[in-house]
Amino acid sequence: MSQDSDVVKNNNVLIIGSGGREHALGWKLRQSDIVQKIYFAPGNGGTFQNVNIQPTEIDKLAEFAKKNECFTIVGPETPLANGIVDYFVKERLRIFGPTRQAALLESSKEFAKQFMNKNGIPTPVFRAFSDPEEAKNYAVKQKTGLVIKADGLASGKGVIVCNNSNEAIDAIDRLMVKRECGIAGSRIVVEERLSGEECSFIVLCDSRTIIPLASSQDHKRVFDNDNGPNTGGMGSYSPTPIVDENLYNTIIKQIMEPAVKGMIHHVTPFKGFLYAGIMIEELTKQPYLLEFNVRMGDPECQPIMMRMKSDLFRYLESAINEELDSMLPIEWKNKFAVCVVMASRGYPLKYSQGHFIKGLEYDFGPEVMVFHSGTRRCSRNRVKTDGGRVLGVTALGDTIRMAVKAAYSVVHRISWGENEHYYRTDIATKYSSSGKPASFFL
Ligand code: AMP
Ligand code: GLY
Repeated sequence: MSQDSDVVKNNNVLIIGSGGREHALGWKLRQSDIVQKIYFAPGNGGTFQNVNIQPTEIDKLAEFAKKNECFTIVGPETPLANGIVDYFVKERLRIFGPTRQAALLESSKEFAKQFMNKNGIPTPVFRAFSDPEEAKNYAVKQKTGLVIKADGLASGKGVIVCNNSNEAIDAIDRLMVKRECGIAGSRIVVEERLSGEECSFIVLCDSRTIIPLASSQDHKRVFDNDNGPNTGGMGSYSPTPIVDENLYNTIIKQIMEPAVKGMIHHVTPFKGFLYAGIMIEELTKQPYLLEFNVRMGDPECQPIMMRMKSDLFRYLESAINEELDSMLPIEWKNKFAVCVVMASRGYPLKYSQGHFIKGLEYDFGPEVMVFHSGTRRCSRNRVKTDGGRVLGVTALGDTIRMAVKAAYSVVHRISWGENEHYYRTDIATKYSSSGKPASFFL
């Protein structure tokens, strides 16, 4: 036991998932003075104490958490949509995340859009369809550009941004007729297309109180200058100068607070990370909500964790005890953090894996973390690629420009195969000439 009677390092943590987000959460929780062991199920080549249980094996995860007295944190959306929190709570296990019903905010786009409308949250106009012909008839009559979205979970591949009605018809066929995203496309949302800058705004919620995390921005398209298909995210940075104090207040008032109140009054209270994917509309400069996620973002989590000064575990514990109102705002380092995702060449389409990664043996210093996602540790501690998004090289800097430079200088020292690695060269560079945001409060 510690000398300080207040500090008892007696919390074991189980982190569910295998991405860069989970590695970053574990890295941050490791710094808590009240966390003892951290397990990952199933984890990746960068995480230790990996447990060979998949995120969908809810009963096995519960058994493990019970045996090892764990506080469980859920990374990805699928176990949340499958009701892992409901199951754990019934078993009297401590778990951080929303229930199955609350997770509908992410697992059904139609549910989320109806919820937004009912609670006055600004969002693009939409209609939902189960019949492809009806959807096409509607699409050809629209005067704006359209976005076609699978209603169900589709690992970031169920959204098709269209330039004209021919593309919209093709997208409807891909989702509803060819079923490119399987059952997720049996119902679709056809949405007005907006233009503008996007940002990710994530809060911690204990059902009544919200504590905002630092603002961030993802880079979703695979190629530089936002070209090519959407991916899970090719890089991110925090904070983003797009979210100044004024916009921050508008997002809280128009999106986050109505969402939390709406959940209490019309659905079920929301506990967990609530992630708003927001577009700042080009002409009006007003924020519109494109989507909710009911979890941390990946790769937004990586720079956010690098900047967090406070003890994350204490906040997660307060959230499940519904005591966030007694917590102070989270403290952040007055620095920028940039995460460049190194992917397998070909991602998000076909790619090869199983290549030994070179360069991980260097010590890159305290301001850089190489978070793993699609990796596997082999004999003699060597690490192989094992997925599309492989690493998230994340660096801190006093300005965006310095953080960008630091991240890319590490990226340039890491490689695998014969030119089998790929990364975008423009992560956060659009903003690297701007100084610090007017207010560095997030
Ligand atoms: P979502 O999963 O709904 O956030 O969509 C994924 C990405 O598709 C977003 O980050 C945007 O880049 C794009 N997108 C989604 N909805 C719209 C929209 N209504 N207008 C323009 N782009 C959109
Ligand atoms: N970076 C986008 C997401 O986590 O959904």
